[in-house]
Amino acid sequence: MKKRILTGDRPSGRLHLGHFVGSLQNRVKLQDEYEQFVLIADVQALTDNYDNPEKVRNSVKELVLDYLSVGIDPQKTTIVVQSMVPAIAELTVYYLNLVSLSRVLRNPTVKSEIEQKGFGESIPAGFAIYPVSQAADITAFGADLVPVGEDQIPMIEQTREIVRKFNSLYGEVLKEPEVLVGNFPRLVGTDGKAKMSKSLGNCIYLSDDSETVKKKVMSMFTDPNRLKPTDKGTVEGNPVFIYHDAFNENLGEIEDLKNRYREGQVGDVEVKQKLFVAIEKILTPIRERRKRYESDEEEVNRILSKGVMRGNEVASETLRKVKQAMKISYEFIK
Ligand code: TRP
Repeated sequence: MKKRILTGDRPSGRLHLGHFVGSLQNRVKLQDEYEQFVLIADVQALTDNYDNPEKVRNSVKELVLDYLSVGIDPQKTTIVVQSMVPAIAELTVYYLNLVSLSRVLRNPTVKSEIEQKGFGESIPAGFAIYPVSQAADITAFGADLVPVGEDQIPMIEQTREIVRKFNSLYGEVLKEPEVLVGNFPRLVGTDGKAKMSKSLGNCIYLSDDSETVKKKVMSMFTDPNRLKPTDKGTVEGNPVFIYHDAFNENLGEIEDLKNRYREGQVGDVEVKQKLFVAIEKILTPIRERRKRYESDEEEVNRILSKGVMRGNEVASETLRKVKQAMKISYEFIK
């Protein structure tokens, strides 16, 4: 039997090239080898967007289109909308008994997010305990493996703790998941900052049109010490070359550009134009698929319904076993 994997995203805006190299590309590959579930974590998104439900709602549709347009194949991957699977919320309530408040607040990912978001003294309780709801996501679907970036490792650690505690208290019911860490370094922003992020305005989105991508690429940061094309330039750590390495399939062209850049024999414009062509080669089929799905809302709805149905099937079976183990499955009502 194929091993099962679960990944997920909080719906909060459009996906960009950072997501593409960080996780989407990987998911498209993994779906051939594993039984893959992808969770649209709208309940989790509400833990820090409870005051902006419209944004979460709109992002769900956006996220599905992003998934389908990169080639996540609904025949191979089950796309599940979290809020439509109530078993997850129910499992969360039960798991909350198995975790101390201080332990969730010590979770490094949660801790740094709390600082970033500046909640101060009023951390929403729902946000503070979201690692427990993530443990419910992972165990509800019986995931063997969870492919995540570095920042999510503490989440999986916490899930494993909950699973061990549950199983030792109530019997071996839950599967202890393993982390599958991708070997994809985080993609820098077009401005060279450590990561692409909406708030920094340094993203190239999968749904950007050609014109927009061109503008963004042509205004990318390069070697700040190189003033003229005849100056010798540095390739290492240079955002334009980081992107060439990430997106340009033509390795010979990259080598040639790097050599000439180092020697002061190529202008930024040529380097960027070639990068634009390479990125367009990736984005063109993505745009085509998006267009197809955008014009067939019924098909997208069918895919989502099917995913939710399958998700409920699997998660409610886990819930049934959990309740039985916890002695809260009663026979007096059939
Ligand atoms: N916490 C993840 C993020 O912020 C999203 C997520 C929710 C997730 N549930 C998950 C990831 C389960 C992996 C498995 O990106």
